[in-house]
Amino acid sequence: MKAITLNSNYSSKLLLTDVLERALEPGEAKVAIQAAALNHRDEWCRKGLYPNLKDGVVLGSDGSGIVEEVGDGVDLNWVGKEVIINPAINWGEDQKAQGKKFEILGMPRNGTLSEKVIVPADRLKIKPEHLSFEEAAALPLAGLTAFRALFYQGQVKPEDKVLITGFGGGVAQFAFQFALKAGAEVYASSSKTEKLKKATELGAKAVFNYTEEDWTEKAIQKSNGFDLVIDSAVGNTLNNLIDVVKPGGKIVFYGATRGNPTDLTARKVFWNQLKIMGTTMGSDQDFEHMIQFVQENKISPIIDQVFTFDEAEIAFDRMKEGKQLGKIILKL
Ligand SMILES: NC(=O)c1ccc[n+]([C@@H]2O[C@H](COP(=O)([O-])OP(=O)(O)OC[C@H]3O[C@@H](n4cnc5c(N)ncnc54)[C@H](OP(=O)(O)O)[C@@H]3O)[C@@H](O)[C@H]2O)c1
Repeated sequence: MKAITLNSNYSSKLLLTDVLERALEPGEAKVAIQAAALNHRDEWCRKGLYPNLKDGVVLGSDGSGIVEEVGDGVDLNWVGKEVIINPAINWGEDQKAQGKKFEILGMPRNGTLSEKVIVPADRLKIKPEHLSFEEAAALPLAGLTAFRALFYQGQVKPEDKVLITGFGGGVAQFAFQFALKAGAEVYASSSKTEKLKKATELGAKAVFNYTEEDWTEKAIQKSNGFDLVIDSAVGNTLNNLIDVVKPGGKIVFYGATRGNPTDLTARKVFWNQLKIMGTTMGSDQDFEHMIQFVQENKISPIIDQVFTFDEAEIAFDRMKEGKQLGKIILKL
């Protein structure tokens, strides 16, 4: 079967190749992938910046498809069902944090950038009816991360003013849509004018270009301070976020695209009683609730572009350069 594997011998670090299909173990299911989506994690793998990388592994955490076969002990009724896959494997019992056995589909386990993927059958969920296969593929990893960041960690309330930074990002676009549906007053930042325009069209109260030096002043003027900020950049821009959050407010971050801060205005954090929290993907319960929320509110992911598997390098480069607005989809 055709699949996109990590291969450090190529300048793109990607190889579209034939991979042997293996037999199913008990408790597993095989899904014929109809669409897969990229996450920044796939780019970190390509850059060699992810732990325990192995050449030959099929990349990709997100996918939607049709169940083709199930292993012993799995309900045969799954065969033929249209599904999405929860890429968070072995979270464990504690809602507060994942256990030591936690792993993410697509490294070290073969992922979804493939004709077929084998996953534990308990990772399958029926595809929400209102979503196409492409939209459904866009949802799992980014939707789950955004949902937990906003609701479990951020405890968003309808009366909150929420800032979503880096609106062009995959997780950010879900956090934005979920926060709006939760009834919050939502603001967005981005480095690109066209992305800010899109955020305004979708209901942002006000938008800010975070590359402008005075964006924090503009943000405070427009909002009077945010109750909650959802971010994945960190770096020294964390200090800007500390400036724009209200006393008693929260900053939740799920990534550190800009690296670690070299400087921290600690006094403002304790004086203003701020909460700065980390979050990663989500539990099975978070996934269940996220799907319910998407179904009830008929939320459709924003798709940036759909590429074929042999255009994988172009698709990955688009994400590396931050050109995307929403999720990048790959199909055979
Ligand atoms: N912990 C987890 O469970 C988890 C889950 C998913 C992702 N992540 C991490 O979160 C990060 C984003 O992931 P993704 O898949 O959403 O990535 P993505 O779709 O590639 O989006 C990255 C976005 O980051 C924004 N950005 C860059 N520099 C910024 C800055 N200084 N301030 C604000 N925004 C900035 C850009 O937004 P604009 O183009 O709008 O400027 C860019 O589009 C990555 O580091 C990823 O590894 C972690």
